[in-house]
This record gives sequence, structure tokens and C-alpha cells, in this order.
Amino acid sequence: MIQTENLLLELIEKHGNSRDGLLPILQEVVAKENYLSEHRMVEIAKALNISSAEVYGTASFYTYLFTKPMGKNVIRVCKTISCKMAGKQEIIKAIEKTLKIKVGETTRDKNFTFIESNCLGWCHKGPVMIINEEVYPEITPERAVEILCEMDPKHLSKF
Ligand code: FES
Repeated sequence: MIQTENLLLELIEKHGNSRDGLLPILQEVVAKENYLSEHRMVEIAKALNISSAEVYGTASFYTYLFTKPMGKNVIRVCKTISCKMAGKQEIIKAIEKTLKIKVGETTRDKNFTFIESNCLGWCHKGPVMIINEEVYPEITPERAVEILCEMDPKHLSKF
């Protein structure tokens, strides 16, 4: 708990306690703690003297800010129009079949969380998949499966 309180104090010191500090504070909490718990969002709201609803609204607006625990690796597939037209649904099916989870779920071993995302800024190279910080433009279902199996070979036998 002391470590947790220290983190918030550190972040307030670094980014200030005005509304402008909210986004960088949320980003750093996610980087350090994996996600934003309800408790943490309330603490941040108190520290910045804003409402918890405002903190939650900001946290839930951005794809990169998680409000629930995520797996070690976060897979995002773009769901926006260009990627939709370029075949994102086939990528989604291949990932779901390989990992035996649906969009929005985490594998039982907590190794992968799979989410759909709004435009990832690679519209000219769709469909696009991002795993953590790594971008995979013009991804095919076969390549997506290959990448997942390289990251976690136990899925090789399941596909
Ligand atoms: S529409 Fe998919 S990256 Fe923009």
C-alpha cells in the first residue's frame, strides 16, 4: 500500500495536480499497474479535485487506458471502416480460434488479452493488428496465427 501511495504522490509531483495532469497520470498508472482500478481512479479524482466520473470518462475513452486487468500481451485489431473492408473479420476469427477466447477476453493463463480498437492510424495498410507496441500492417489470418504461435508455441497444436 505504501508503494501504491508513493506512486500517486510521485505522479502528482511530476505532472501537477491540475486537470492537465490527468491523462499522463492515467497513462503512467496503466504502465506501472497494468490497469486503472476503481479505487485508483477515485484516488486520482481526489488528488486532482475533479469528479470520479470525469476520471472514468477519460479512462474509458482511450483504447490504451485499461479499466480492467489485462493479460501480459494485449492484441488489438482495428475495427474501423478501412480495416473492416480489408478483412479484419477474418483476422478476428483466426485469433479467436487460435487462443480460444472471444474479443474482449483474456486467456486463462493471462498471457493474451484480445480487443478490438478504433482506428489505429494505419488505414492505408489494413487490416492492422497491434500486439503491445508492435504494429502488424496488412496482416493475414495465417500470419496472425503464426505470430501468436511464435509468442506462445502451445497454441501451435490447437490450430
Ligand atoms: S481504419 Fe484501421 S487503422 Fe485506420
